[in-house]
Amino acid sequence: MLKSVIPRPWICSRCIRRQLPSRIRRNHVQAVPPTPLEDAVALGFKAARGQVATDTTTPGSQHDDKTLGQIFDSPGFWREYSQSSKSGHRAGLFQNRYLTSPQGFEQFANTSLERAKRVVAKILAASKPEEYQHVVKDLERLSDLLCRIIDLSDFVRATHPDPRINHAATRAYAKMYEYMNVLNTTTGLARQLDIAIKTAGSAWGEEERLVAGILKRDFAKSAVDLPQVDKEKFIQLSQDISEVGSEFVENMESAQPFIQFKSSSLYGMDPMLVKEFTRWGQVTIPAIGEASHAALHTVYDEQVRKQIFSAGRTASKSSLRRLHSMLSKRAELAKLSRFQSYAHMSLEDKMAKTPEAVNGFLQELSKDNRPRVESCLADILAAKRAYTKKPDSVLQPWDKEFYMSQVLSSVPSRLRNADFLSSYFSLGRVMQGLSRLFTRLYGIRFVPRENMPGETWNSDVRTLDIISETDGHVAVLYCDLFARPGKSPNPAHFTIRCSRRIRDGEIQEAAAIADPLFDSAEQAANDGMALARTPNGVMQLPVIALICNFATNPGSKTPSLLSFNEVTTLFHEMGHAIHSILGRTNFQEVSGTRCATDFAELPSIIMEHFAADPSVLSLFARHYETDQPLPVEMIAEKLALDKKFESVDTEHQLILSLLDQACHSQLALNPSFNTTEIFHSLQRQHGVMPPDPAGTCGEGFFGHLFGYGGSYYSYLFDRVLAERIWQQVFSGGREGGGLARGNGERFKDEVLKWGGARDPWKCLAGVLRDERVENGGEKAMQLVGSWGAERRRRDRLEGKGSKL
Ligand SMILES: *[C@@H]1O[C@H](CO)[C@@H](O)[C@H](O)[C@H]1NC(C)=O
Ligand SMILES: *[C@@H]1O[C@H](CO)[C@@H](O)[C@H](O)[C@H]1NC(C)=O
Ligand SMILES: *[C@@H]1O[C@H](CO)[C@@H](O)[C@H](O)[C@H]1NC(C)=O
Ligand SMILES: [Zn+2]
Repeated sequence: MLKSVIPRPWICSRCIRRQLPSRIRRNHVQAVPPTPLEDAVALGFKAARGQVATDTTTPGSQHDDKTLGQIFDSPGFWREYSQSSKSGHRAGLFQNRYLTSPQGFEQFANTSLERAKRVVAKILAASKPEEYQHVVKDLERLSDLLCRIIDLSDFVRATHPDPRINHAATRAYAKMYEYMNVLNTTTGLARQLDIAIKTAGSAWGEEERLVAGILKRDFAKSAVDLPQVDKEKFIQLSQDISEVGSEFVENMESAQPFIQFKSSSLYGMDPMLVKEFTRWGQVTIPAIGEASHAALHTVYDEQVRKQIFSAGRTASKSSLRRLHSMLSKRAELAKLSRFQSYAHMSLEDKMAKTPEAVNGFLQELSKDNRPRVESCLADILAAKRAYTKKPDSVLQPWDKEFYMSQVLSSVPSRLRNADFLSSYFSLGRVMQGLSRLFTRLYGIRFVPRENMPGETWNSDVRTLDIISETDGHVAVLYCDLFARPGKSPNPAHFTIRCSRRIRDGEIQEAAAIADPLFDSAEQAANDGMALARTPNGVMQLPVIALICNFATNPGSKTPSLLSFNEVTTLFHEMGHAIHSILGRTNFQEVSGTRCATDFAELPSIIMEHFAADPSVLSLFARHYETDQPLPVEMIAEKLALDKKFESVDTEHQLILSLLDQACHSQLALNPSFNTTEIFHSLQRQHGVMPPDPAGTCGEGFFGHLFGYGGSYYSYLFDRVLAERIWQQVFSGGREGGGLARGNGERFKDEVLKWGGARDPWKCLAGVLRDERVENGGEKAMQLVGSWGAERRRRDRLEGKGSKL
């Protein structure tokens, strides 16, 4: 249970992948005039033609839709709209009644702690059958009480601009954390759970049994069953791993941090960038970072690229030492906990279950991918031979980026005008588009709401109530989307409070205390935060915060305009949000995104398909000045360029996934365990592209080995699943399949609404209507691998770009 309480670091591959090396970026952007809009509109729009752009059926929802666009696109409108939040009595952060001042955090923590202690006493005292009946519900409540503080304060301390509130949140967090350590040594909880499962388990529903299983596994993982001496060793190892792991990630460095050249050696690279790094005719480039990345794409001199490449792939001795130490300690920890390897331990609660299954998936995917990489390699090699005029030249590792850029920039495209697409994507329109899409698919929409005084952490934050046609108010979404100095550039989705059923006993308990801070016992039971009365009882509503960093145009009338990549990112993050919104479970342990981590990216990656679908785009993408619809073939062109070398990226991800598996296998117990040898041999075995040269050790820069620890394959896995579901359930967008309510309902009923409360393989078999995957296992993992990540990708979308 304690494990589930620790906020799972929100691993969003989209953000993470952006930090990986060898992303293909196109340079040499030049303007080419657009084609007449009329042609464009006629293209590929059959499905959407004749549809009104809005979905709004009632005057009220039309008004909401309009307001939604304006609060994001019109600063003047927003100023007026947000007036009321500036005066009046303070509502408390997130409407939490305790949080009207920094001191409130302490009171909030104290109250929650008292509640938690009462719950613990109750669980430990259980002795009668009807008391054991309730143990899982009580443990879940305990976990929710801790989450309420930890999730919220973790968000606040990372985001709130007021240092006093920051400090108060940090203290509340520390207080709860300390209490968790006390609970760790309270062995009675695990014992009571065991008795409850044995004596009362048969009376529970499916969800409760599942939660019981999760709690039991978490207890087992925190070593409660071990003899005292092993338990101490376990705690020591866990602490060491977390320390050395963070050190590894924070101090990844090259053995040769800087490389020097005469400035003329960098011919080909953007002169402005070169100038930034030049002093007295000497250029000094950091081995890692924007400049060396750009150099690999653009510098003509092969020897120079070779030097830069090698420096960027050769980690320092101390980086490798930290990595080695982390991996061998993990292997020891697994052994101590009676697992074959750390991967076995970490995969137990994933869809994959075993390292063998992960391996089967990766092998099959690799088979599927290979011919595509071979064809890319042929193109890249041809480019090199043409360029060097040597028909027998071979491709070197440091040639890859350079010749890929050459191939891409030889394609004539209007997209070289970077502003062209973004004129159709003002933030307000994109938000309208998301709301309209969700209305079509799931019958829910975004309704802007005025903030109460003190409800948000910044006056920039727009609050949306999420309203369902059938269930009314289902969630609150705080959108903090505009760039500000000091704000993290990484987009992210946070759950501030999870969805869950508030049980009658909790409301009675609040009624008995009758705290004057609250208007009703129900309100007190949820600290004043959003709730809903449903036929099944009172629900605590999910409260979500979405953070992005979109540029604004201060002082200008132009709204914030998003690039297509930013649109895709926002759709992706909304995919997590919709999972939290629709995953309404009785137990917060399994609500929304709290599902198996190798299933968690599926809803968000699917949203990237929606972002590229012409019918979906026709719902909202219009020019912010002329109101002309977006010429969709431009998106096709953009996607074709982006996808050109996708298989090369897939190969890279495959090798990293295999490396992650090998590093967390039993091998790590071996005294001669050598990550460099493993990495290089995997490249030789599975790569079509040239392997890294001898002497380098690129694995020393693979920081995700710490965060993922045996589940790095998840990103590729969810990408395959998303592609399959997009094709099979949403017809790949054909005939308006991306907007059909029946398709949306199918995805919701089989996947989204369950959160983590159903075996994800059952979700998958249900939504795909494919029994072969119903029970998971190695065969099913192999089958998924054979589906491939990019088969039949958007065939109908390929307009001009398909010549690539
Ligand atoms: C308590 O358990 C959690 C989760 O298993 C763990 O992260 C934490 O380090 C433990 N604390 C102690 C003192 O054992
Ligand atoms: C919270 O509890 C601590 C002791 O546990 C106490 O010293 C402090 O005064 C309490 N704070 C509030 C605001 O109730
Ligand atoms: C690991 O293998 C590489 C390549 O064979 C070698 O250069 C390096 O010295 C080895 N590292 C250790 C610590 O033995
Ligand atoms: Zn994500």
